[in-house]
Amino acid sequence: MSDDLKIAVIGAGGKMGMRVSANLQRTNWNVVYTEKSPAGIERNKEQGRAIISNEEAVPDADVVIFAVPDVALHAVTGEVVPLMREGSMVLTLDPAAAYANQLFMRKGLTYVVAHPTHPSVFLERTTPEEWADTFGGIAAPQNAIAAMFTESDTWQPIAEKIIATMYGPVIKVYWTSVHDLAVLEPTLNETIGCMIGQFLKDVMDYAVEVTDMDEDTVKAMFYGHIYIALTNALRGSNPFSDACLLAMDYGRQAIIKEDWKRIFDDKDLDIVVAKMLKLDHIER
Ligand SMILES: NC(=O)c1ccc[n+]([C@@H]2O[C@H](COP(=O)([O-])OP(=O)(O)OC[C@H]3O[C@@H](n4cnc5c(N)ncnc54)[C@H](O)[C@@H]3O)[C@@H](O)[C@H]2O)c1
Repeated sequence: MSDDLKIAVIGAGGKMGMRVSANLQRTNWNVVYTEKSPAGIERNKEQGRAIISNEEAVPDADVVIFAVPDVALHAVTGEVVPLMREGSMVLTLDPAAAYANQLFMRKGLTYVVAHPTHPSVFLERTTPEEWADTFGGIAAPQNAIAAMFTESDTWQPIAEKIIATMYGPVIKVYWTSVHDLAVLEPTLNETIGCMIGQFLKDVMDYAVEVTDMDEDTVKAMFYGHIYIALTNALRGSNPFSDACLLAMDYGRQAIIKEDWKRIFDDKDLDIVVAKMLKLDHIER
């Protein structure tokens, strides 16, 4: 069956739609594409992909990939899932909507969610193409984390093949629960990781503002230190110096709230997912 699949990509002209479609287009699977926006339709045409309607694409598809924004998943799965054939698979690209019970659920279908990890900051990139591929899905290997929202032993290995292909090159597809995938994304990745990444930029800009140094000077010092901080902390490659440890303690006390671990509580996860999906609250 996995050699002879029909896959429909809904939202093929969006950011993820363009990425996963480019990889799926190169397979022997029968892949069809749908898209609503004129700009998205044009982007697909430029890549040699014809856009058809959801009504044409979905009824005989084995797998339907929803590459639509999370805030639209409730409405779009409500439109599209009733068109799907019995026994087929829904594949979404982020856990938020599944976690918040926003997907239109239908008995007899299998629901899987898979998120790319992006290539590791420690990936040994040996080609210009790997170096340029910061997001992943083109040249730099990454991983993917997947969860079965409804269990299916039949679909799991097929889903893994599709996930590894659409996010390829992929080193490994890890499996977890929808809840734990939501702890990774948004909590670990966005609430914390992306926030700290942007915070590093904000503090660098502020250092330029309050000193006589230009941005190049500040960057020269800071970028090297960001890397050594990551390798020391995450890989244990060098110990932090004794004086550095004291400064780190001072910084943590000045900036980090004592109760930071609460963002791992389900109550907090519900709040951030509700904000992301523009909901009043999450019903689980
Ligand atoms: N953008 C990222 O960096 C990223 C990374 C990982 C996962 N994701 C996930 O991928 C999914 C898509 O996000 P995105 O950022 O690519 O969104 P996007 O807004 O870039 O694209 C969504 C596309 O869906 C189209 N669309 C909307 N309703 C449609 C319908 N009924 N039929 C056909 N097409 C329709 C829109 O026209 C648009 O082109 C989300 O679940 C998101 O969480 C995004």
